[in-house]
Amino acid sequence: MKVIIRDYKVTDEIGWIRCRTLAFLQTAYFDNVLNKKEHYQNPAIELVAELDGQIVGLIDVEYELEERTVCSKGEGLGGMIWHIAVHPDFSHQGIGEQLLYAAETEAKKMNINRFEAWTRDDRWVQNWYEKMKFKIVDSYYHVYFEGNEMNHRIQGNIPDLYLINAFTHYVGKDIDQFKSNKRVHKCVCFEKSF
Ligand SMILES: CC(C)(COP(=O)(O)OP(=O)(O)OC[C@H]1O[C@@H](n2cnc3c(N)ncnc32)[C@H](O)[C@@H]1OP(=O)(O)O)[C@@H](O)C(=O)NCCC(=O)NCCS
Repeated sequence: MKVIIRDYKVTDEIGWIRCRTLAFLQTAYFDNVLNKKEHYQNPAIELVAELDGQIVGLIDVEYELEERTVCSKGEGLGGMIWHIAVHPDFSHQGIGEQLLYAAETEAKKMNINRFEAWTRDDRWVQNWYEKMKFKIVDSYYHVYFEGNEMNHRIQGNIPDLYLINAFTHYVGKDIDQFKSNKRVHKCVCFEKSF
């Protein structure tokens, strides 16, 4: 299998979207679907893995020219992995690792000393980050409210406007109060220094 790791180009957009959608479908981000590729305010390392003309993997890392303008932690200049995905038909074959290492090589040339990445509670995805030598440095919760879970607990203040469901960030310590909510994710921050 000869996978080419190369820079993203505009004509890759549909392949990029398809690859990301299929990869995320099997994770706790299954409904986080994009219909356009994301672009960034700061410079970014945007790589794809191509196999026989198909986009089978991707990584986007937005990086800092000034400390703490993109990353939330650490010292020196960092890079934020906004997207890393491998098409599920091609997973577990080292493509994610190749993309990450290629992005690290580029990042070092820009004097970036670390990568930060946030992900949810998919054990196998976290295993991958750990295998790639990332460490967990922070966490908070993504709490969804649907149907009866709203139960007047969450209200907007616009007259005649009713909230039907809600996606919230919870940064407190009493997560047990949401234990009857069907969808609560721990969102963890991984960091890797190099
Ligand atoms: C995480 C991801 C990028 C890894 O890419 P990959 O090319 O499949 O992984 P690699 O071949 O580089 O690494 C293999 C390791 O990844 C993990 N892994 C990859 N696919 C897996 C699967 N289907 N089931 C379980 N573990 C898996 C394992 O830890 C595996 O190590 P092992 O061989 O010792 O079991 C990819 O699987 C993916 O796209 N996941 C969904 C999207 C996502 O969650 N992105 C990150 C959140 S922002």
